[in-house]
Amino acid sequence: EQSRQIQQTLAEFRLSKAQLLEVKKRMRAEIERGLKKETHKEAAVKMLPTFVRSTPDGTENGDFLALDLGGTNFRVLLVKIRSGKRRTVEMHNKIYAIPLEVMQGTGDELFDHIVHCISDFLDYMGMKSARLPLGFTFSFPCHQTSLDAGILVTWTKGFKATDCEGENVVELLREAIKRKEEFELDVVAIVNDTVGTMMTCAYEEPTCEVGLIAGTGSNACYMEEMKNIEIVEGNEGRMCVNMEWGAFGDNGCLDDIRTQYDQAVDENSLNEGKQRYEKMCSGMYLGEIVRQILIDLTKRGFLFRGQISETLKTRGIFETKFLSQIESDRLALLQVRAILQQLGLDSTCDDSIIVKEVCGTVSRRAAQICGAGMAAVVDKIRENRGLDHLDVTVGVDGTLYKLHPHFSRIFLQTVKELAPKCDVNFLLSEDGSGKGAALITAVGFRQRELDA
Ligand code: BG6
Ligand code: GLC
Repeated sequence: EQSRQIQQTLAEFRLSKAQLLEVKKRMRAEIERGLKKETHKEAAVKMLPTFVRSTPDGTENGDFLALDLGGTNFRVLLVKIRSGKRRTVEMHNKIYAIPLEVMQGTGDELFDHIVHCISDFLDYMGMKSARLPLGFTFSFPCHQTSLDAGILVTWTKGFKATDCEGENVVELLREAIKRKEEFELDVVAIVNDTVGTMMTCAYEEPTCEVGLIAGTGSNACYMEEMKNIEIVEGNEGRMCVNMEWGAFGDNGCLDDIRTQYDQAVDENSLNEGKQRYEKMCSGMYLGEIVRQILIDLTKRGFLFRGQISETLKTRGIFETKFLSQIESDRLALLQVRAILQQLGLDSTCDDSIIVKEVCGTVSRRAAQICGAGMAAVVDKIRENRGLDHLDVTVGVDGTLYKLHPHFSRIFLQTVKELAPKCDVNFLLSEDGSGKGAALITAVGFRQRELDA
C-alpha cells in the first residue's frame, strides 16, 4: 500500500509521448508569439534578437577580454584569436567567486565587484594598459537594440541585485570601470551564454546553428530568418535569437503538467511565477523538486521514519552534483546512504531506494521536457528552410548536461523521437561561452573600425 501511494505520487512526473508532443506543440506556438510584432510584448518566451548575424568564418582576429557571468562560475578571460590558414585560439582565464551578498546586494556593488576581478586579472596577466575590446557573456534576458546595448529584462536564477532591471547592463559595466579609474576597456558586445556557446561550437563545426544550456538555468538560441523576426528591421539573411525559453509556461500553458511540488518550488524561489519551465528542468531547481517530494513523503510517514530533519528543510541542499552521484549506476545503495548521511539525512536501506527513484523520476521528466522544447526548435528551423529533412548541430554546455549520468541520454532520445525528420548532432562545448563571446567581439570590433 505504501509503495502504491509512492508510485501514485511519482506517476504525475511520468509523461506520455502524447503529453511530450503537446509540450513541443505549445513551445512552437510560444515561439511564434514571441516573434510576431502584435504578440511579442505579452509573450512568455521572449525570442530576443541578439544582433549576431552569422556564425564565425575564420577571419576573426585579435586579442580580446571576455567576462562570463551567470553560470556556476564567474570567469574573466583573455582570448587570443588568430585567423588565416592555421587558425588558433589561445585562452587564459581565472575563476572568481561572487559572494551571495554581492549577487543579491546593490547593482553598484555587483558591478564594482566585477571590475575589481577584471583589475586583478589584468594585473595577473600584466596587461593593465592595453585597452582591450571586451565581450560580456551575461546569462540573463536582455532586450538588445545593438550588439553593445542590453537592457536587463529581469534577473533569473540566484541573482537579485537592485537597480539593474530596466537598465543597460553595458552602461552599468562602463560606469563601474570609470569609477575604478585604473584602466580603460572597450565594451563591444553583450552576449547570452547560449549564443556564446553556439559560436564557440560553430568555430569548430560550421553546421552548428543552435545553442543549448542545460545547467544552473535552461535556455536555447538559434539562427532564425530575419523576415520572421518582425521586431527587427530588414528581411535578408538570419539573426541569432535568444529564446529565453526558461519562461515557457509563465502564462499558465504548462499548468496541466505542473505538480504541487513544482508549485512549492516556485513559491520558495526568488522569482515566484517566473521561469516556470526552467524550474522544471534546470540544475538549480531539480534538487528542490526532489526535496519537496521527500518532505511530502516524510510527512505521510513513508520516509525517514516520518521525521522531517532540519536538513530536509534547508533550501538548495541537493545540488546537481549530489543528484548526479545518487543516480549514478555505479553506486551501490550503501554509497547512496553515505551521500544522504553526508547531507545530514539518516536513511534506512528502503529510504535510499525511494530517494534514488524520486531523483530518477524528476531528472527524467526534466530531460524529456527539455527534449520536447528542442524538438520544437529544430523542426522550426527545418520548416523555415522548406526541408523534409534537416541535418543540424547543436552546441551544448551546462553542468546538468555534462555531469548528470542520465540527463543527456534521455534528452537525446526524446529529441529523436519527437523530431524524427531532423538529424541532430549534439556537440559539447569544451571551452565555455567566453571563446564565442570573443569571436562575436572580433566581428563587432572590425565592423566598428570599418564604420569609423
Ligand atoms: C559555462 C559557460 O561553460 O557553462 C557559461 O561558459 C554558462 O557561459 C555555463 O553559463 C552554463 O552551465 P552552468 O551549469 O555553469 O550554469
Ligand atoms: C536563465 C537565463 C538565460 C540563460 C540560462 C542559462 O534561463 O535567463 O539567459 O541563458 O539561464 O544560463
